[in-house]
Amino acid sequence: MIKGRTEGELFSDVENYAVKEFTAEVTPVTPAYATTRFSTIQIMHTAKGLISVEGPTLSEKINSLGIDDGMKAFRPAWRQKEALVEIAGLEDGWVVTACRGEAIIGYITFHPPGEFERWGRAGIRELLELGAIEVAPGYRNIRLGREMMKVAFADPVMENYVVISTEYYWHWDLDGTGLNVWEYQAVMTRLMESAGMVKRDTDEQEISAHPANMLMVRVGNKVSPEAVAGFERLLFRKKEG
Ligand SMILES: CC(C)(COP(=O)(O)OP(=O)(O)OC[C@H]1O[C@@H](n2cnc3c(N)ncnc32)[C@H](O)[C@@H]1OP(=O)(O)O)[C@@H](O)C(=O)NCCC(=O)NCCS
Repeated sequence: MIKGRTEGELFSDVENYAVKEFTAEVTPVTPAYATTRFSTIQIMHTAKGLISVEGPTLSEKINSLGIDDGMKAFRPAWRQKEALVEIAGLEDGWVVTACRGEAIIGYITFHPPGEFERWGRAGIRELLELGAIEVAPGYRNIRLGREMMKVAFADPVMENYVVISTEYYWHWDLDGTGLNVWEYQAVMTRLMESAGMVKRDTDEQEISAHPANMLMVRVGNKVSPEAVAGFERLLFRKKEG
């Protein structure tokens, strides 16, 4: 069900994008960690008004929110909301959201790496992937991305993980930002570095496919030496013969 809501109802100062309210077809699930883990909420005072950044945001809450129509860097906004509801319901995945009023205007997703990728195939339980970060076009470049990263990595649970982000230039919104590949790479580097992630070299095929692609990594201070060693071995597989 999609109930359109006009832009003027909620966001009189933000042009071009409407807020879509709909009930996702995906059933919201409360993961067990929700009873033991605290959510953090930061309120940002911005030129675009008050914005709340929350993480982890529970599946039911995401389902009850609208989503800015401009949240379509990876898939249509309604489908993106469904994906967020789904990821927020995982036992080992979660979502950080940024909201203006009742609408999602930004998110970061975290989940275990896919089992068909090098990072997931190894079965390292302490490996977590920052799957995607997106900010609605009307709210970009006001430090929302940085604030979401800050909230995400202030969570003590992050110390238990090697967090990776595979940055492929073909996912970047070059048209929407008007930045070239290298300028965008600099934006992504600053954003990831703001939370302590660092660029690591690897011979993984997709990362190596273009010099602008990057693997960004942060090793939490409680990760077991075995998991760190296992991850280090994953970086260069060709050496193993
Ligand atoms: C990438 C993205 C998440 C950045 O979010 P954002 O909220 O605009 O970023 P911030 O405002 O926090 O800025 C982060 C840094 O990048 C810089 N930056 C952001 N947009 C910029 C722009 N258009 N031009 C130049 N610098 C820019 C900021 O100045 C800041 O640098 P600083 O920390 O040195 O001050 C956003 O552009 C986006 O949603 N893009 C589409 C989706 C995407 O490409 N995601 C990445 C792949 S998963």
